[in-house]
Amino acid sequence: MTIQNVMVIGAGQMGAGIAQVFAQAGLQVKLNDMKQEALDKGLSGIEKRLARAVEKGKMTDGEQKEAFARLSGTTKLEDASDCDLVIEAVVESMDVKESVFKRLDEITPKHAILATNTSSLPITEIAAVTNRPDQVIGMHFMNPVPVMKLVEIIRAIQTSDETYQAIEDMTKRLNKSPVEVEDFPGFVSNRILMPMINEAIYTVYEGVASPEDVDTVMKLGMNHPMGPLTLADFIGLDTCLYIMEVLHEGFGDSKYRPCPLLRKYVKAGWLGKKSGRGFYSYE
Ligand code: CAA
Ligand code: NAD
Repeated sequence: MTIQNVMVIGAGQMGAGIAQVFAQAGLQVKLNDMKQEALDKGLSGIEKRLARAVEKGKMTDGEQKEAFARLSGTTKLEDASDCDLVIEAVVESMDVKESVFKRLDEITPKHAILATNTSSLPITEIAAVTNRPDQVIGMHFMNPVPVMKLVEIIRAIQTSDETYQAIEDMTKRLNKSPVEVEDFPGFVSNRILMPMINEAIYTVYEGVASPEDVDTVMKLGMNHPMGPLTLADFIGLDTCLYIMEVLHEGFGDSKYRPCPLLRKYVKAGWLGKKSGRGFYSYE
C-alpha cells in the first residue's frame, strides 16, 4: 500500500511535531484539532521551527516553503475521508481515544491504517472498538518529535504483519529508528522512564532534596540531558499522571503508585511547561 495522505489528530506538542516530520518527508498532511486556537498554535509553531531550520542552514528556503505547503489545518474529522494513514495524538484518555477511533473507522477509507501515539494505553483495546483491528497499531513518537530519533511501534494482538511492515517502512521514511514492542502497559519507554520520574517526585515530596537539586544530581551525576523534574514539566504532568495510573492499574503492583504530590499538582492545574507552572515556573 502507498501512503501519501496523512491526518494527525491533536495539534498539541506531539501532534504538531508529528505533522511537521511527515510534511518534511514529502507527505500531504492534514493537522486536526477540535479547538481552532490549538490548531492555530500548532501550525504557527511548525512554521517557526521550519524557519529556524532555514536560519541554521539545515534546509533551504524552498524546502521550507514546500514542506509548509504540504500541511493544512482542519477542525473537521470528516476530512480524513481520503487519508491512507491517521495518527491520533489527543489527550491520554481511553474514553476520548475510543470515541475518536470509532469515528475514524466510519470516516476513513477501508484500506487506511489507524495509528495511535498513546504513551501507555492498551492498543489492543483501542483496536477492538473498530471493524479493522488488524489495521490498528501504536506509533509512539518521543518528545520533541523533530529531534528524537526513536519511534516505538506497538503491535496490538490483532495487528497484521502488513500493517506492522507499512508503519516500520514509514518510520524509516521519516528518518527515524523503529523498535518493535508488544502491547504491555507503558510499552518499553514509559515502563522504564515514568517510574524514575515518579520516584524523583517522591524524593521532593519526602523533603529529601529540592527539585533543582534532584535535577542536578541526575544531570551532572548521570549525564541525563534534562533532570527528571524538568522532563516531567516538559512532557506534561497530566500525561505523567495518566501514564502512572495505567502502569499501576495494568500491573496491579504498588511500586507504580503515583506520588500524591503529582496528583496535587495536576488537580491545581499545574501541568508543567504547557500551563506555565509545574515543578518550575515558565511565566
Ligand atoms: N521542538 C522542536 N525542536 C526542539 C525543541 C522542541 N520543543 N526543543 C529543542 N529543539 C531542538 C533545537 O531547535 C535544537 O535543534 P538543532 O540541533 O537543529 O539546532 C536541538 O533541539 C537542541 O536544542 P537546544 O540546543 O536548544 O537544547 P538542548 O541541547 O538542551 O536539547 C532537548 C534539547 C533535545 C529537548 C534535550 O534537552 C533532550 O534530549 N531532553 C530529553 C528529551 C527526552 O527525554 N524526551 C523523551 C520524553 S518521554 C516521551 O516523549 C515519551 C512519552 O510518552 C512521555
Ligand atoms: P497536548 O495536551 O499538548 O495536546 C492534545 C491536543 O489534543 C490538544 O490540542 C487538544 O485540543 C486536542 N484534542 C483533545 N481531544 C481531541 C479530539 N477529540 N479531537 C481532536 N483534538 C483533540 O498533549 P500531548 O502532550 O501532545 O499528548 C498527546 C498524546 O501523545 C497523548 O496520548 C500523550 O500520552 C502522547 N505522548 C505525549 C508525549 C509527551 O511528552 N507529551 C510523548 C509521547 C506521547
